Amino acid sequence: MQKKILIAYATRTGSTQEVAEAVAVTLCESGLEVDIQPMRNVRTLKGYGAVVLGAPLYMFHWHKDALSFLSRYREVLTDGLLVAIFASGPFAKGDEKEWQEVRKQLDQELAKFAWLRPIAVEIVGGKFDPAKLSFPLNLVPALKQMPASDLRDWTVIRAWASNLAAKLQSALS
Ligand SMILES: Cc1cc2nc3c(=O)[nH]c(=O)nc-3n(C[C@H](O)[C@H](O)[C@H](O)COP(=O)(O)O)c2cc1C
Repeated sequence: MQKKILIAYATRTGSTQEVAEAVAVTLCESGLEVDIQPMRNVRTLKGYGAVVLGAPLYMFHWHKDALSFLSRYREVLTDGLLVAIFASGPFAKGDEKEWQEVRKQLDQELAKFAWLRPIAVEIVGGKFDPAKLSFPLNLVPALKQMPASDLRDWTVIRAWASNLAAKLQSALS
């Protein structure tokens, strides 16, 4: 029997969770068996053939739950478990260069884990809602006045997940 896939996500304001759920749906539609959980609730990776980690970038850093997840599970992640990664980030319409900068932010974070060999890495658009800013960010006028936006492209996200499903199917069969 093919091993299950774990999608483990971190989020502050919910948008990365929604992306993780969309990835889960696509992987399930491709015939994979999938569990989905917040990273901080994961207690074991036993029984999984692959883990998909999804977390947002904040202030040039990947969410701390993602960084501690990688540290905590280093042993099992270097022992045959497949890893795929996505990070949510850019929420203001910018040019290609800005996306490249965000990719650099993620690459710098992942470089802290020299042993890590992900089979796929993707930046997905982020979502910003000034009403969801929590303390102390909700006290920053420049942030509070920014318009709400959502750069998540569901077609691109599903295509990435579908491509990932094909890789997982062939690696795990
Ligand atoms: C205060 C703040 C700082 C942010 N910093 C970054 C950043 O350094 N790089 C980036 O790509 N996105 C950054 N973002 C965008 C978030 O990653 C984006 O809004 C993401 O969708 C949030 O995910 P969540 O809803 O799962 O928490 C920032 C957003 C906020 C509000």
